[in-house]
Amino acid sequence: MLDFKVDNETCISCGQCASDCPAMIISMETNLPTIDPELEQYCIRCMHCVAICSEGSVSILGYNPEQGISVSDSVLPTSDQVEVLIKARRTTRNYQDRNVDAELITKMINVASHAPSGHNDRGLHFSVIDDKGVLFDLRSIVYEEMEKIISAGELPEDLEMFVDILDAWKQTGKDIIFRNAPHLLLVSADIDSAAPQQDAIIALSSFELYANSNKIGTVWNGLATLTFSELLPSLQKKLGIPETHQLEYVMGFGHPAIWYKRTIERQSPAINRITSID
Ligand SMILES: Cc1cc2nc3c(=O)[nH]c(=O)nc-3n(C[C@H](O)[C@H](O)[C@H](O)COP(=O)(O)O)c2cc1C
Repeated sequence: MLDFKVDNETCISCGQCASDCPAMIISMETNLPTIDPELEQYCIRCMHCVAICSEGSVSILGYNPEQGISVSDSVLPTSDQVEVLIKARRTTRNYQDRNVDAELITKMINVASHAPSGHNDRGLHFSVIDDKGVLFDLRSIVYEEMEKIISAGELPEDLEMFVDILDAWKQTGKDIIFRNAPHLLLVSADIDSAAPQQDAIIALSSFELYANSNKIGTVWNGLATLTFSELLPSLQKKLGIPETHQLEYVMGFGHPAIWYKRTIERQSPAINRITSID
């Protein structure tokens, strides 16, 4: 039941909700937007109908227009600001030894969860370690279990890099896996959703940029992803990854101990301008 409601008093019958509906289920036949109950099943719950309405007359799924942020030029960041955010974002591998405020962590995940999702399936699950002590314990378990596997000669050939990683940890205390980040965000996706991997990566990219705008550093953590996906998959249950989900990617984050002073310019991107199709 979509609970699609239109305020008859304020609706100006412009039809924008109907023409923008990707499922094309909103009808303007009666001059007011309606959805045939038989077509409700095709709604992908994107809420474009609420977002596009200039009069704030539409609500759906119990969601009212006043619950969102009113979008105008004055609330959007300028393109120069977004450019600096994108270019100034760097991988942080050096963190302060303190927690990020739990409320800010919740907000960062919440903002990231607004990222686009294939077919609007929104099948992501965010497992987060928001206390550095917990990550400290996890790190000990990971290195201990890794050592057991290596000592037993059970390390698969394609995971041989973990020998050097363990060596660095034992000899110098250098934590190459987690980069000493105090927090970890593990994004898993329902394997039956339309684009599980892409959804997770887009959500983490959004998380990363929003985190950086809050002066929180991040590291895309390919090694932790490999650790929990292939080396020690049994830890996934302990980390709360739902059984019907696949772990897609892991990101470390925290207050940076360093701050990059300038952006750099990368090599020009390879651009192929398609000017005609022969
Ligand atoms: C998919 C992916 C996986 C990564 N995995 C790791 C990792 O396991 N450990 C690490 O220190 N950095 C990791 N990085 C960071 C890259 O090394 C980094 O993005 C690259 O060197 C460019 O530097 P920048 O992010 O500071 O611009 C990863 C980046 C990406 C995109």
